[in-house]
Amino acid sequence: MKRILTGDRPTGKLHIGHYVGSLTNRVRLQREYECYFIIADLHMLTTRPDKASIEEIGRNSRDIVLDYLAVGIDPAVSTIYLQSAVPEVYELNLIFEMLVTVPRLQRLPGLKDMARSAQLNEMPFGLLGYPILQSADILLPRAHLVPVGKDNEAHVEMTREIARRFNGQYDEVFPIPDVLVGDVPTLVGTDGGAKMSKSLDNTIFLSDPADVVERKVRGMYTDPNRVRADVPGTVEGNPVFVYHDVFNDNTVEVEDLKERYRAGRVGDVEVKEKLTRAMNAFLDPIRERRAAFAEEKGLVESIIFAGTQRMKEEARATLSEVRKAMGLAGVWNGIRRKAEKAAKISAKEH
Ligand code: TRP
Repeated sequence: MKRILTGDRPTGKLHIGHYVGSLTNRVRLQREYECYFIIADLHMLTTRPDKASIEEIGRNSRDIVLDYLAVGIDPAVSTIYLQSAVPEVYELNLIFEMLVTVPRLQRLPGLKDMARSAQLNEMPFGLLGYPILQSADILLPRAHLVPVGKDNEAHVEMTREIARRFNGQYDEVFPIPDVLVGDVPTLVGTDGGAKMSKSLDNTIFLSDPADVVERKVRGMYTDPNRVRADVPGTVEGNPVFVYHDVFNDNTVEVEDLKERYRAGRVGDVEVKEKLTRAMNAFLDPIRERRAAFAEEKGLVESIIFAGTQRMKEEARATLSEVRKAMGLAGVWNGIRRKAEKAAKISAKEH
């Protein structure tokens, strides 16, 4: 069976942007592919290596896995694991570092944005290497497909380059993985910002209670040029209508609202009330499942533990192939053989 690898940094709960960008694809494909979902705590360290952030990894991982389970990821068929507990990823990362140039990494705009939003005025070496580490994640279980949001597309492109370079230079060890971006590649924030992001406080979390969703929707940006309900408004790119399109199953209601909005015959209040209802209808079953899983003591930890054990085995197998393909295994075996022979000779002599 072909394999998927994707995952998330344990920086907090997952939001509806994660859902449309990647989670739906994961749930949809988890029986067609063997799935590996990474809790990428080493990637978190690229911008937050401080002790306080590390101390939050456990709780944040728990939140992420509860979000996974709530949306329908099934740990009986999918492997969920903790990146930092798999030593081989550090090793593969270093080997891949030899196959990428610094200017290639510097051309990735996403990394500069990450440095900026983490308020780092100089680029940490590790953050520059973020896509290399991500490539190591993807290629460690030799994945074929990577479902991610639009912001990660360039990193998968780099993974493809690294896999090609490795295979060409040494031996065919890795598949060339494809990227799969969600139907809604980048969901606008509640503030109309280009991207939903926790640091901008423009998100709706999958675990937000109904009243919080209502408050967030009420505060959403709409058409900034529309000063009164009887002024014709623009629907395209308008956050409330973007969300209606994605989350409101009642297409008749959505079309009616759009028509009246364009004609200046509906107020923001009605549009938002209907959006709140749709969002909560979408989130209700997710929240219910999440609460039920959260009740089971030790469940999440057992899932991560078992998944990490499974991943460790995969990782060991891949690294053994990698060392063999590069000839590093041969170098070491040669040294060992000669050392053993010398030991035998000297044992005889004494
Ligand atoms: N870069 C991803 C993010 O934006 C997290 C991640 C780490 C990842 N390793 C990965 C995603 C491998 C897909 C595949 O949080």
